[in-house]
Amino acid sequence: MKPAFSASLAFLVLLTALVSLARAGGGVTPVHSAATEHSIDSILAGLTLQEKIGQLVQYTGGWSTGPAGRVINDEQRRLIKEGKAGSLLNVIGSSVTHELQKIAVEESRAKIPLLFGLDVIHGFKTTFPIPLAEAATWEADAVELSARVSATEAASAGVHWTFAPMVDIARDPRWGRIAEGSGEDPYLGSVMAAARVRGFQGRSLSDPTAIMACVKHYAAYGGAEGGRDYNTVDVSEQTLRDVYLPPFKAALDAGAGTFMASFNEINGVPSSGSRFLLTTILRDEWAFDGFVVSDWGSIGEMIPHGYAATPAHAAELAINAGLDMDMESRCYFENLQSLVDQKRVSTATLDLAVRRILRMKFRLGLFADPYHASTPEREAKTLRNAAHIEAARNVARKAIVLLKNERGILPLAKNVKTIAVIGPLAHNHRDPVGTWAGPTDTNNVVTLLDGVRAAVPASRVLFAPGCAIDGRDTAGISAAVTVARQADVVLLAVGESEDMSGEACCRSTLELPGRQGDLVRAVHATGKPVVLVLMNGRPLALSWEAANLPAILEAWFLGHETGHAIADVLFGSYAPSGRLPASFPRVTGQVPVYYNHKNTGRPSNDTVHYTSRYLDVASTPQFPFGFGLTYTSFSYADLAITSPRVKATDSVSVRITVKNTGSREGEEVVQLYVRDEVGSMTRPVKELKAYRRVRLQPGQTTSVTLSIAATDLAFTGADMRRRVEPGMFTAYVGPNAAEGLVGRFEVVE
Ligand code: NOJ
Repeated sequence: MKPAFSASLAFLVLLTALVSLARAGGGVTPVHSAATEHSIDSILAGLTLQEKIGQLVQYTGGWSTGPAGRVINDEQRRLIKEGKAGSLLNVIGSSVTHELQKIAVEESRAKIPLLFGLDVIHGFKTTFPIPLAEAATWEADAVELSARVSATEAASAGVHWTFAPMVDIARDPRWGRIAEGSGEDPYLGSVMAAARVRGFQGRSLSDPTAIMACVKHYAAYGGAEGGRDYNTVDVSEQTLRDVYLPPFKAALDAGAGTFMASFNEINGVPSSGSRFLLTTILRDEWAFDGFVVSDWGSIGEMIPHGYAATPAHAAELAINAGLDMDMESRCYFENLQSLVDQKRVSTATLDLAVRRILRMKFRLGLFADPYHASTPEREAKTLRNAAHIEAARNVARKAIVLLKNERGILPLAKNVKTIAVIGPLAHNHRDPVGTWAGPTDTNNVVTLLDGVRAAVPASRVLFAPGCAIDGRDTAGISAAVTVARQADVVLLAVGESEDMSGEACCRSTLELPGRQGDLVRAVHATGKPVVLVLMNGRPLALSWEAANLPAILEAWFLGHETGHAIADVLFGSYAPSGRLPASFPRVTGQVPVYYNHKNTGRPSNDTVHYTSRYLDVASTPQFPFGFGLTYTSFSYADLAITSPRVKATDSVSVRITVKNTGSREGEEVVQLYVRDEVGSMTRPVKELKAYRRVRLQPGQTTSVTLSIAATDLAFTGADMRRRVEPGMFTAYVGPNAAEGLVGRFEVVE
């Protein structure tokens, strides 16, 4: 075969592989297109310095989602026309985005299309469960579907870019932003991060239903001391790499086009000025070729951090660290020109940032169609269409976690005569949408009361709010008790308001706020069977409720379809299948209580004094990570490790028999945790490595094999390199992080 022929054959094979990878959707970091890079060269050659800087600047348009936002209108139009804006956030709707885009591509000198960004976090006009709740599905497909629907709707309304997924690992539930992520675990967090990127970006960024993902907040934002938002993060590089970074890497591997730098400092350096994060890890180690945007004003916030002296200094530090676009601080807009003139920022650095932004505009297809095929007609057909609402209900019911079900009180019979629906969240349209619900319309929320009435139209359904979510007023409790007394069963909906979690919404106590605890106790005292339905944006501390109430359903903030989804589960048309993505503490003072902690030299033992524990509370969480019941039960037996001695290049398979020991069909999430028994660095007591969902008929038995590559056992050593060390490992397979059968295997050289 002639060399020329073989080269073109290889090219054809490569092309076919790329096309089929792209067809398979996601998972591909696009290879640089020479044609695109060439086009960028010519654009760059024709831009003035001011126009280049303009590409690096993002302003808020329609409304403000941060402090001191200058919502601009005529000024906005002027800046676009003068080529001084590369992107706008918070502008939505095909008409207004068209109008502004038209100015950019027809009236500005350089004619570079704008990028419209928005926080599309868990839905657009159809509101899905908050991300923490979606993570509780433990189902990548469900989470991908939610992101896909959100993207389809947002794209139809002219949005090109979402500031999501938020992939911050959160080990402290006082931190309000735990609601926006996937909880405490790097493996589950990585699965969810990749699913969301696939969902947002679809098959290709240029597809009209795609919006570009922005992985945030890079990095370790969830490590805020004391769970207080924006607070200092001091974390070892090993923990950074092994716990906080994996979901970012997973999102990047799934093709995420952009990253957002976080507000916090890490080990003394704010993320927005961290060359280590933005260049060494992101570019040099991970070969990311998209662009990085700051968080809202975070470049300027390096001044109060005490890292930059002036806005000019902040701009210099940020761009030289590798931060490409400035969201709202104006440090770039006002200072880059003089920084370039003074040679404090090189033209090469400036051009590189512009190139990265233009590259993503090309990948989105904006140079070919700056409107991304959004039209008012398409928008009207797409928003909240029937398929999207059905998807939202489907994802919402999968997110519900059954925490307790004594004596099989659930599911409720559909012919129950009288039902009392009580609590401040029972018929509440505002709070179930949760944080960052964007352009949602809360009138579309199906409340629990609505859902119950629709599910059991023949039942008598009584309602009393009892008390407010917060505050000291107990006046409504006696009316709620009167209603409870008339019922056969009480559904008691309590929890948090939507603005108790999310950005800048941290709590120092995780118990039920206000007088809701009094309401729960008073209703319980009636002796009626009580099903506690929780709506909240974080793990709560529920020790009294867990000890005293027969049934508890964790329903988070489920979005528009809240009431239907909960009723589906309550009345058994859907058997609960969610699992906790974060540990629930017994009391607030116990946090952090994440499952993948280190063992210490004196591992906690509640009966031994000189061990690592509290005197006044058990060492275990109230409900462990991975926990969730359903309407049947399962047993585990016969754990077998198929190859008990493996090389670091091999894989490990763990087989187990799972049996449905109850009387209903049901789904179990079989979870594999591993512990590296001895390492050159101490290792966590358990780490989730794989899981599989199985559906079994009553009495049915199945064999489940969970396989992982031995390289999945790697961790970061003292030299900051990842390694798999030879030695003994313990494998645990079970229904959650606290239970399971145990086996051992060895990794050999
Ligand atoms: C600040 C938040 O931290 C970030 O998550 C969000 O994307 C931006 N504001 C834009 O709204």
